[in-house]
Amino acid sequence: MIFLILGAIITFVYWYSTRTFSYWRNRGVKHDPPVPGLGNNADQVFARKSMSQVIEDVYWRYPNEKVVGFYRLIRPELVIRDPDVIKSVFTSDFQYFYARSHLGCESGDQVEPLRRNMLVAEGDLWKLLRQGCSPAFTIAKLKAMFPLIVERAERLQERTLGLVESGAAIDARDLMDRFTMDFIGACGLGIDATALNDDNSPFRKLGEQIFHIGARETIIYMIKELFPGKFPFLKYFGQCEKYLLHLVREIQKMRNNTPSGRNDFVDMLLEMKRKGKIEVESMERQKPDGTPERVSMELDDMLMAANVFMFFGAGYETSANSTSFTLHALAYNPDIQKKVQQEIDMVLAKNENKLSWDAIKEMQYLEWTFKEGLRMQPPVGHIGRTCKKKYTFEELGLTIDEGVRVRISVQALHNDPLYWDKPEEFRPERFSPDEFNETRTKYIYLPFGTGPRICAGERLGIMQSLAGLAAILSRFTVEPAPNSTRKPRIDPKSNLTQGVVGGLPLIFKERKNFQTVPLLIEEFPARSL
Ligand code: HEM
Ligand SMILES: *[C@@H]1O[C@H](CO)[C@@H](O)[C@H](O)[C@H]1NC(C)=O
Ligand SMILES: *[C@@H]1O[C@H](CO)[C@@H](O)[C@H](O)[C@H]1NC(C)=O
Ligand SMILES: *[C@@H]1O[C@H](CO)[C@@H](O)[C@H](O)[C@H]1NC(C)=O
Ligand SMILES: *[C@@H]1O[C@H](CO)[C@@H](O)[C@H](O)[C@H]1NC(C)=O
Repeated sequence: MIFLILGAIITFVYWYSTRTFSYWRNRGVKHDPPVPGLGNNADQVFARKSMSQVIEDVYWRYPNEKVVGFYRLIRPELVIRDPDVIKSVFTSDFQYFYARSHLGCESGDQVEPLRRNMLVAEGDLWKLLRQGCSPAFTIAKLKAMFPLIVERAERLQERTLGLVESGAAIDARDLMDRFTMDFIGACGLGIDATALNDDNSPFRKLGEQIFHIGARETIIYMIKELFPGKFPFLKYFGQCEKYLLHLVREIQKMRNNTPSGRNDFVDMLLEMKRKGKIEVESMERQKPDGTPERVSMELDDMLMAANVFMFFGAGYETSANSTSFTLHALAYNPDIQKKVQQEIDMVLAKNENKLSWDAIKEMQYLEWTFKEGLRMQPPVGHIGRTCKKKYTFEELGLTIDEGVRVRISVQALHNDPLYWDKPEEFRPERFSPDEFNETRTKYIYLPFGTGPRICAGERLGIMQSLAGLAAILSRFTVEPAPNSTRKPRIDPKSNLTQGVVGGLPLIFKERKNFQTVPLLIEEFPARSL
């Protein structure tokens, strides 16, 4: 009897964990053979590779395919390799692919409150938030916000100065991490985070909590993957929710519910609240006559907390990772570093040695350098969408169902010799207008994603990163530390953004005569961003 039951259970489990494995075979899409229960992501489940690396591997293993099949545990997914197909999914046929592919992303009213933010929301809620928040990301707003960033960049310089005295290696990642945290505190939440110097700042702890993926989160993830939508009460972010809600209420109280003139994100949310309802045409619902319904939303405290949370989720790791990697690359490319420094010196000399929006905009070579860093190691190694309606790829004669996730490997596209000349070389000149062909790379160079869901903070992220880099490089020269590794090892435990094992240790040397005006002026014609 026992054996019979056991046999039945095993049969059921086997059936349950393999029942989807004919999906891609039936559609004539190539893929690796899946393992029962684990699909094609065993390497990720056993923490041997990061999620981005797994997708990247798939990209390299099928050089002749436009799309490749993949099973995440038991769910069929599609890895897209071809730029034209990328264009269809992310741009032309966005109405089929308006949802992200985040783990545990669920739709409807069951969404965890903190997930009701622009980064992970989908459908009408996303549209309302994207439209409602768009005034926060105009150039005028960013310029008004910029003094807060400059202040943080100056503090970064001071902190580094304090650290170089010992002459020991400094973890560039930790340094830029603190700078970014400070920036997010000031611009996103409207508080002085002091993350730069205080290891115990509650704010730093919050950041750690958000990105910490422990046993609890792993179990919740497995449950949500295997039984989508069945356990809405399980929350990834339970603790953060309480903290952020409290914080948002306190800040509003402090500001008497009116914008304070600091020009930060909270001011913007307060303005939005004062205006009242936001209204858009629905993406999901239609009136009987076929025209879209109007949908509306009012901002409450929880929504505010969720969108402050978005600032963390979207802006923190991305900026910290890309700036620290750029420093790392410059340590290994001293000639390029020298050129960057010459340009910074020249621009600062013209601007009374002060960083400002306009000064940063003049630092063209620095910008190319940063873009090259984003190319070599994009902080977001892969991006994806979820198919929301049965969809046919005309050019492939392939139809996929609602719920199938599609992903692209940004890391692989950025390093494919098919599109880049000697991709392993760090060469900022690739991004000079003479060389960079925007038309050709539109669906290949994607550090900020693409389509209607492209990064909302692209300009802010770039300008903030350049400010941090300029602050460092105007005063210090970076060199590899004794235990630096040229090609840092990606942390297999990282999922969304790509982590590195052991940080990025570098030696920071104070520059002696950093204010001398160099002779290279005509080499860097200023162009607008
Ligand atoms: C160097 C820094 C940054 C990088 C590399 C970066 C990269 C990205 C990427 C790859 C996406 C996904 C795009 C897609 O799916 O097509 C994204 C989305 C997003 N990012 Fe950034 N980001 C950066 C900084 C920021 C900052 C500072 C903010 C400020 C709030 C921000 C806000 C957002 C938002 C709101 C979204 C979601 C947009 C939507 O779904 O409609 N990002 N970012
Ligand atoms: C992140 O990756 C680890 C290691 O592969 C995995 O165990 C974990 O479930 C992932 N976490 C999430 C939230 O996806
Ligand atoms: C840029 O690339 C596109 C598409 O590959 C090509 O048609 C165009 O001629 C290129 N432009 C320049 C200036 O090379
Ligand atoms: C990216 O950020 C995360 C979290 O701060 C960190 O663990 C990781 O090492 C960073 N990766 C790089 C390349 O700096
Ligand atoms: C380099 O050395 C420091 C201090 O000895 C250590 O904390 C760090 O993990 C090392 N980094 C690497 C990449 O080995």
